[in-house]
Amino acid sequence: MAITPQQLIKWKQQGRPIVALTAWDYVFAQLLDNAGVDLVLVGDSLATILGYENTLPVTLDEMIHHAKAVRRGVKNALLVVDLPFLTYQESSGQALHSAGRVLKETGAQAVKLEGGYPAMVETVAYLVQAGIPVMGHVGLTPQSIHQLGLRQQGKTKEAGEKVLNEAIALQQAGAFSMLLEHIPASLALQITQKLTIPTIGIGAGVNCDGQILVTADLLGLSEHQPPFAKSYTDLRAQIALAVQNFGQDVREGKFP
Ligand code: KIV
Repeated sequence: MAITPQQLIKWKQQGRPIVALTAWDYVFAQLLDNAGVDLVLVGDSLATILGYENTLPVTLDEMIHHAKAVRRGVKNALLVVDLPFLTYQESSGQALHSAGRVLKETGAQAVKLEGGYPAMVETVAYLVQAGIPVMGHVGLTPQSIHQLGLRQQGKTKEAGEKVLNEAIALQQAGAFSMLLEHIPASLALQITQKLTIPTIGIGAGVNCDGQILVTADLLGLSEHQPPFAKSYTDLRAQIALAVQNFGQDVREGKFP
């Protein structure tokens, strides 16, 4: 049976860590799902796969196109799709329209959006009232790259309190889980202890209820990756070698 938002909340209560990864197509989605990943996110980090410099240019149509392919590969994991830049910030109505399209057209179970106080808290409440499960995302929010850069957030006492309060407000608005990106581990621990919904960390230390990585980083496919990411293999090097070997065999008449 497919994993639900409620299941993630139960796992937090039981202390069972949540394993999450991003996906952008059918092949990788199927590989992740078969390997037992709990939550698959079609993140707007899709930008790197599409060759964009940051997440801002990604469109809702691109997210939907890729999420449909991912849906075909994911049978068990909870499937969450990012709402891209300027498809939800304008108004709660715009957010409902975008999130509604994602759920109707892709078959995903939930959406994720970035930011908190005060506008996004209202937006999350609006979506949840309409029956759309929402994952929050606080700390470093890459859609605000031109305001925040890609620096660690919540480093001072004041800044940490702001992130904590945003997470609490988003939970009160009905978010079913909270992505914590690039914040101090001590702050992530505080938020994780305070919230009843699960926290999923990336660059937020070991004390979150679950961890997520961008799959391109995990596999060593990214041209650039953040310092907190970990590659478990080096597919760029392996692919380059395979292609060079093929080229050499063809040039030397060894293949076929
Ligand atoms: O877009 C994305 O891949 C994300 C990561 C932080 C997981 O939101």
